[in-house]
Amino acid sequence: MTQPSKLRTYGSRLKHKLSGEQPAHGAPPAKSGDAWRQRRQFPAESTIPMPPEGLRGKVGSAPQFHDVALTTMGRMSMAGLRPDHDVLDIGCGVGRTARYLCGFLEGDARYEGFDVTEVLVEWCQENITPRFPNFHFTHTPLYHLSYDPDHSLPSAAEFTFPYADESFDFVFAHSVFTHLLPEVTANYLNEVFRVLRPGGTSYSTWILFNDEPSAYSNPRRNGMVDDPSGRFAVREPANVGYREEFVREMHASSGLKIIEPIHEGFRRFQDAIVAVK
Ligand SMILES: C[S@@+](CC[C@H](N)C(=O)[O-])C[C@H]1O[C@@H](n2cnc3c(N)ncnc32)[C@H](O)[C@@H]1O
Repeated sequence: MTQPSKLRTYGSRLKHKLSGEQPAHGAPPAKSGDAWRQRRQFPAESTIPMPPEGLRGKVGSAPQFHDVALTTMGRMSMAGLRPDHDVLDIGCGVGRTARYLCGFLEGDARYEGFDVTEVLVEWCQENITPRFPNFHFTHTPLYHLSYDPDHSLPSAAEFTFPYADESFDFVFAHSVFTHLLPEVTANYLNEVFRVLRPGGTSYSTWILFNDEPSAYSNPRRNGMVDDPSGRFAVREPANVGYREEFVREMHASSGLKIIEPIHEGFRRFQDAIVAVK
């Protein structure tokens, strides 16, 4: 019998993979690395439903929702995120990144996400935790710019993250510091330092500007009003841009060391900072 060429074998495996069928015969025996690779196939569409449009905020379309999440996954992998890491997701929203982390983190790795917006946290609790019990979501009611303008709530500037010291290997905040004023941002960076294990990594995204704004922040700066300090700028209701030097100072005072370079954003991808404890 003629042996199938390597290319044909690959083509047949790919076809079956795409169709979801098992190849009837002729497939090479499973290699030891197959389970490892399989665990890393992002289950977003097949395992976790797409959140309804009303909960997806401004990134309404499903392709854009994926696009941003996959870019975040890629950037976090390059920052050293590993499948065995215990991960904290600050301002987890409707689980845009968590949906992909489900297929990346090992079953005994711990994922914690918290957010001030209850309906988003509830969606994650109902749709992600039952399928991935190591993923926990916490609603943290706090007063904030526009998301929950209830002044009777505690201030995020004095909020202590509800996790023990040195309990995470990787802490991230995607598109969150872009909505927080300096006193909250400074507190959150201190909290990131507290909950990270020594050597742990922080990944966060920003709208940064210098005298030259970044490619991402340039259009976003339009309509932002500079604070008289010159250190940050705000566009109502809840967008905040930061002068790069100020963000560097806040990292330094928290104890977090920025890994150079800061990654300049592009199109809809914000400026990104990786730092270590
Ligand atoms: C633009 S969304 C990003 C959500 C998510 N990180 C993502 O990438 O899809 C900003 C999120 O930050 C949350 N948020 C705003 N202020 C917060 C605060 N002080 N603490 C925690 N989350 C906050 C909002 O409720 C919202 O879900």
